[in-house]
Amino acid sequence: MEARKASALIVGGCRGIGAAIATRLAKDGFDIIATARAKSVDSDAVAAAVAAENRVFTLLTCDICNREQTRAALEPYLEGDLLPEVVVFNAGIALDNLFAFMDQEQWSRVIDTNLNGFYNSVQPFVFGMIARRRGRIIVITSASGQAGQAGQVNYSASKAALIGAVKALAREIGRKGILVNAVAPGVVDTSMTASLPMDKVLPLIPLNRVGTTAEVAGVVSFLAGSDSTYIHGQVIAVNGGLVI
Ligand SMILES: NC(=O)c1ccc[n+]([C@@H]2O[C@H](COP(=O)([O-])OP(=O)(O)OC[C@H]3O[C@@H](n4cnc5c(N)ncnc54)[C@H](OP(=O)(O)O)[C@@H]3O)[C@@H](O)[C@H]2O)c1
Repeated sequence: MEARKASALIVGGCRGIGAAIATRLAKDGFDIIATARAKSVDSDAVAAAVAAENRVFTLLTCDICNREQTRAALEPYLEGDLLPEVVVFNAGIALDNLFAFMDQEQWSRVIDTNLNGFYNSVQPFVFGMIARRRGRIIVITSASGQAGQAGQVNYSASKAALIGAVKALAREIGRKGILVNAVAPGVVDTSMTASLPMDKVLPLIPLNRVGTTAEVAGVVSFLAGSDSTYIHGQVIAVNGGLVI
């Protein structure tokens, strides 16, 4: 019988950057557990891409703003053989507005998803990883969290908070053999950036182009793999020079 393969769980693993991460980690040999709020053509496409790599795909449906629902979906994977080797927190939203006009819903939904969602979906794994004394936690933050972005006070705050969380968690659990790092993309070609005015954005990027989801996934692959075993508590920027 074939030995069980290591698995990677991607929170928000069925669209955009998350879908690329799922596909890339499957190529790397991981079985994939991906969350989405619902099964869709996007999750079906990721399932097919993972199957094409002869890896097993499991879809978990949950809204990461809902702690109980998320906990229930993750429950079978929190310990024992099903505990993933790698947990990637990729889910996130942006609801942009100038701070002077930002309403409570724009503020709260972004913080709820990007920051509280991290607590709801990643914290449950930490105890099992500590017990096993092995694991990788990779968090997708943003150049906006590193440098700040006008019109994104809510989003920048949530992404900067994730950077703080990654650094603090790295200090807490490094000794337990768990590597914790962040990846900070700049402007990447997904639905999140589809309405940006590229004539104004591109001049800010020294490489003069947006990034691809595969370019972000490649860095996640590196952080999940065997060449990054001394990288810990770091924020790896993938931004074409947007933030230097
Ligand atoms: N695109 C960029 O330029 C860029 C730059 C820097 C950082 N990022 C970050 O990269 C990550 C992925 O962004 P993307 O561009 O790929 O965006 P996207 O295509 O809009 O995907 C957003 C992802 O977040 C998930 N999600 C959103 N709200 C959720 C909720 N309440 N519960 C569960 N899952 C939820 C979505 O899951 P569903 O399948 O359920 O919709 C989806 O997987 C985000 O954290 C984003 O902030 C993106």
